Amino acid sequence: MSEPDQPSTARMIDFWLGGEHHFPVDVAAARAFEGAYGPCAAIFRSLRDFLGRAVRSIADAGVDGFLVFGAGVPSQGNVHEVVPDATVLYTDVDPVTIRLGQRLLAGSDRAGYGFGDATDIGTIDPAQLHRFVPGWGRRPVGVVFLGLAAFLDDATLARTLDELYEAAAPGSFLAVDFDSEELATYPAALAMMGPAFRMRPPTAFPPLLGRWRPTADGVVPVAEWRTQGEPAPVPDAFYGAVATKPTA
Ligand SMILES: C[S@@+](CC[C@H](N)C(=O)[O-])C[C@H]1O[C@@H](n2cnc3c(N)ncnc32)[C@H](O)[C@@H]1O
Repeated sequence: MSEPDQPSTARMIDFWLGGEHHFPVDVAAARAFEGAYGPCAAIFRSLRDFLGRAVRSIADAGVDGFLVFGAGVPSQGNVHEVVPDATVLYTDVDPVTIRLGQRLLAGSDRAGYGFGDATDIGTIDPAQLHRFVPGWGRRPVGVVFLGLAAFLDDATLARTLDELYEAAAPGSFLAVDFDSEELATYPAALAMMGPAFRMRPPTAFPPLLGRWRPTADGVVPVAEWRTQGEPAPVPDAFYGAVATKPTA
């Protein structure tokens, strides 16, 4: 696979999680970011562990099809590894990450990877959608929307989550996270996230969910979401929730 000339936050996360699916340009960017902020591995492990608990809880509610946006690298405790009996469609907009994901999932008949712009679900290949998320729009599914909200302005994020609410069948779930203002005191690190990156105070998160209804766990630091025992001792860089589209 040819080397990309630009780093990707998704592949930087793979590096921090101890994965093997990234390139030297991603490692250089990850190390530069840590130079400006501090160690990141524990923070992203805690975020991936939240994904695991959230997805497991959705599967425990009887859901067996997942649609993942801004999916990044499908390894290191990603959705199909947490719920191997479910079917999963991973989507992203970054062509290098999509190719990497397709290579990783080659041969799987339960998980696939394709292009999908979260802000326009019509960009997803309908054949892939119906193969890996059977009954989309008619059966409850799990929508996974992690690591993405920070790259969408409030209006786009609210519209996107509302369109997903409209499209998903009643009984569906949304797993979502938001970036806090953790980087506000690290201007060099913040600058590395690019001009589209948006930090938000925690009070801004619930209104952005629109009609999606958070479970009783609320919108909380990801390390605290249904944690058994002591939460991981990491900064509250990410808040997360599981929300539902009620059946009635
Ligand atoms: C911070 S990474 C998170 C990756 C993964 N969800 C994780 O937690 O490891 C953000 C990902 O969102 C993708 N992305 C950015 N804008 C997007 C959009 N409008 N629709 C879908 N994916 C998008 C990027 O290409 C990148 O892979």
